[in-house]
Amino acid sequence: MVEIETSRLRLRQFIPDDLDDLFRLYSDVEVMKYLLPRSKEQTQASLNKHIQHWQEYNFGMWAVVHKDSDKLIGRCGLGFLDNTPEVELGYVLDKFYWNMGLTTEAAIATLKYSFEKVKLNRIVAIAHPQNIASVRVIQKVGMKYEKNARFYNVDVVYYGLNREDWQPDQ
Ligand SMILES: CC(C)(COP(=O)(O)OP(=O)(O)OC[C@H]1O[C@@H](n2cnc3c(N)ncnc32)[C@H](O)[C@@H]1OP(=O)(O)O)[C@@H](O)C(=O)NCCC(=O)NCCS
Repeated sequence: MVEIETSRLRLRQFIPDDLDDLFRLYSDVEVMKYLLPRSKEQTQASLNKHIQHWQEYNFGMWAVVHKDSDKLIGRCGLGFLDNTPEVELGYVLDKFYWNMGLTTEAAIATLKYSFEKVKLNRIVAIAHPQNIASVRVIQKVGMKYEKNARFYNVDVVYYGLNREDWQPDQ
């Protein structure tokens, strides 16, 4: 089981027992405003996908665990962007933990792991332009705006970061 730590978080692979915690997140209309809330069945399908993705590619979506409480408070990590071969950074955090810098912390650790251990060459991220918190995280981790685009049937801003431009000390 691959696992990494940051000062406040443990990032680990998802396990089948995470269904209820993930559903609490994915059924919250405020949290899922830009992603659409998911039913229990849809959450189960997403969880299966997260678990399988790690087995297939050796990278994927981390379960984000708050070290102080040992609670699963979100997800952060990588997947394939829509119907492309590009690797996308994505994240969702429990709203009670927003604006504490936790997603930025998890995303920086994800990039470090992905560039240094997995040796990925490039990671992209997209966000609805009105999703200010998400755009802000993308910018804070050092990704560069490249274009406006359309993915998942949504107009988005599209950012990218190549391994040679990655600055691990930020
Ligand atoms: C996007 C999300 C994961 C960010 O998580 P987070 O842990 O709060 O992120 P951080 O605390 O690391 O950073 C958030 C930044 O956005 C800023 N921010 C948040 N809301 C803001 C607003 N309304 N106006 C201006 N800035 C805002 C914060 O101030 C912070 O920036 P700063 O550090 O420069 O002050 C969280 O908001 C979330 O789960 N949203 C719902 C799911 C989602 O939309 N995921 C992304 C899909 S593309």
